[in-house]
Amino acid sequence: MTVPDDGASAAARQRMAADLTAEHPSEWADAFASVPRHLFVPRFHQQDSTGAWQPLTWPDPAYLETVYSDTALTTQLDEHGVPTSSSSQPSIMLAMLEALDVSEGHRVLELGTGTGYNAALLCHRLGDANVTTIDIDPALVDTAAQRLHQAGFNPILAVHDGAKGHPGNAPYDRIISTVGLHAIPEPLLQQAAPGAVIVAPIGYGIVRATVTAPGHATGRFLTVPAHFMARRTGGSEPHFDAALEQSPADTRVPPADLLGRLKFPASVALPGYTSCSWRTQDGDLDAVGLWTPDGSTAIAHTSGSVRQIGPQKLWDTVEDLAKIFGDEPERNAFVLTVTPTRQTVFYEDADGPSWALPATS
Ligand SMILES: C[S@@+](CC[C@H](N)C(=O)[O-])C[C@H]1O[C@@H](n2cnc3c(N)ncnc32)[C@H](O)[C@@H]1O
Repeated sequence: MTVPDDGASAAARQRMAADLTAEHPSEWADAFASVPRHLFVPRFHQQDSTGAWQPLTWPDPAYLETVYSDTALTTQLDEHGVPTSSSSQPSIMLAMLEALDVSEGHRVLELGTGTGYNAALLCHRLGDANVTTIDIDPALVDTAAQRLHQAGFNPILAVHDGAKGHPGNAPYDRIISTVGLHAIPEPLLQQAAPGAVIVAPIGYGIVRATVTAPGHATGRFLTVPAHFMARRTGGSEPHFDAALEQSPADTRVPPADLLGRLKFPASVALPGYTSCSWRTQDGDLDAVGLWTPDGSTAIAHTSGSVRQIGPQKLWDTVEDLAKIFGDEPERNAFVLTVTPTRQTVFYEDADGPSWALPATS
């Protein structure tokens, strides 16, 4: 069933655009007020109090209100109930689009077509011919193409691993990733025009890097936090059983710190890490687990014990971070530097703490 064209959706859309831009005027206000998000997200999933996913669609009274609110909407789940596509939170989309700093005539590559909504915003601003959007999921690209067409937009769409970009339409003046990356994939640097701006989630932050020379880029992280879906590459599973067989060591770092103040620095120091938590029946934190794509796994208990296994001692890195950062650091104090041989994140300046990002992401 489709949303009736009775003015309610237009009013909700304009309200969302006004709320998003209330603090400061934005060149993207008109795009958010004009592009119908509901057309790209006719149905989404929300978790109920038991954690089960429930679909929400028109004419549920909450549907239109939620679609036009500052909420990320999960649009696709895999067979295990893990989200595989979503329409990102509009305020984060706005922050990324503003950081992209587009001008008329700029050619943009978007990684992660998803619903097509962000591509539609780009088309509204720059025109169809200047927008290329790619996703690894052919069914998503197909559906997004239909919905974009229905909304009056016809960007260039392709099915590709975002890490390879889309050389056919290069060079790009601007590259925006709506897929979580561990570093800037080298093909994107090759496809970037001189002076191009790349805005991309790396770990739990979003970097805005300017291409300074072929293969070279540098820039700061934005202040906004980010939690984007990781690029689908087929990482490894945690080895909790094997970790639990290890002798425990003592730790003075509370496990809660990994979920809070150290979350972003850990995502830079341990690219691609995943964490989970266990809670007591009262809902209090009992332990956190973390693992990286190489299979390294750690479990830290609130009792002060930690067990680790694998090529990297992950909790040792968390303890190192705890020594550097007394409080949660500002994300924009972190700077990414990319050369053809190395990608490094520095804290505060080139003499400060630094972490090497993986050569291939
Ligand atoms: C947060 S969603 C994108 C939101 C989208 N821009 C929108 O406006 O709806 C992330 C998308 O990244 C895609 N993705 C995951 N791994 C990818 C990869 N390796 N290359 C390209 N896209 C990928 C997913 O299929 C998913 O659609």
